[in-house]
Amino acid sequence: MSLQWSSELEIGIPVIDSQHQRIVEYIAKVEMAHQHHSQEELLEVLDELVDYTLSHFAFEESLMEEAGYPFIKAHQKVHALFTRRVDSYHQQAKAGADITDELTHTLKAWLVNHIKHDDRDYGDVVKANMEEATKRVKSRKAGWMSRLFG
Ligand SMILES: [Fe+2]
Repeated sequence: MSLQWSSELEIGIPVIDSQHQRIVEYIAKVEMAHQHHSQEELLEVLDELVDYTLSHFAFEESLMEEAGYPFIKAHQKVHALFTRRVDSYHQQAKAGADITDELTHTLKAWLVNHIKHDDRDYGDVVKANMEEATKRVKSRKAGWMSRLFG
């Protein structure tokens, strides 16, 4: 069954939600490549998926760090383990092995579980920190405006 994006997967931080949505799209592309029986297409999509996921993880980790999220170390470890797992599938695919079923199954199960639990867990802390930062920028702007035009 293909994984569909739904509001159940939202954590309420739009920039993160759209990145997760993009990963779901990549998983669909992996399945498509498999249906097309194209190893070339598969390897290309896998490259993109790995690239995109790595930068997404780095982005998430920087938000968590900025927000002082207390469980960042554990979350980073989960990201690292997952990266290693996908990397191993990627190597196997490069070597010509047919790992798509296993890979997409793992990707879907992991992603849904990770978003619903681990990512949702940092959601409140990161959201509060982002809102604080926006307020700070706004009040700085307001101060500057009133000094200039007040
Ligand atoms: Fe995460």
